[in-house]
Amino acid sequence: MSQYAFAVYPISTTAAGARCIVVPALDYGHDLAAMAAAIEATTRLVWIANPNNPTGNFLPYPQLKSFMAEVPKDVAVVLDEAYNEYLPPHMRDDATHWLNEFPNLIITRTFSKIYGLAGLRGGIRCRCARCR
Ligand SMILES: Cc1ncc(COP(=O)(O)O)c(C=O)c1O
Repeated sequence: MSQYAFAVYPISTTAAGARCIVVPALDYGHDLAAMAAAIEATTRLVWIANPNNPTGNFLPYPQLKSFMAEVPKDVAVVLDEAYNEYLPPHMRDDATHWLNEFPNLIITRTFSKIYGLAGLRGGIRCRCARCR
């Protein structure tokens, strides 16, 4: 994860018993080249918030897609798009179109920001062999 990324990432990572690798930020945002270089053989998950909270930094989609192409396929990338709906239309794209190309991509969004439904939770339970 990047320095200054969403504060919950280190909390949930350590709560799961994993070790955080915090990559120094670039102008308060994610330094994707440094993050790709920081991936180790034991790395299992990369967190990216786009736009980021608390800094508001935004990564253009072509940069994100190039990053996805660099990440080993056995490393999951959580692309947290909690603030996606706040982007002006000319900046917004739909990364869900990449899901077939990158099976290690997990995109998260939330009703809490766009509709103010902070208390409502929904999801799909993973049925993969590891989670069962
Ligand atoms: C970047 C980011 N991701 C995820 C969340 C989680 O949103 P929620 O738990 O309200 O669905 C937040 C909430 O502040 C956030 O800022």
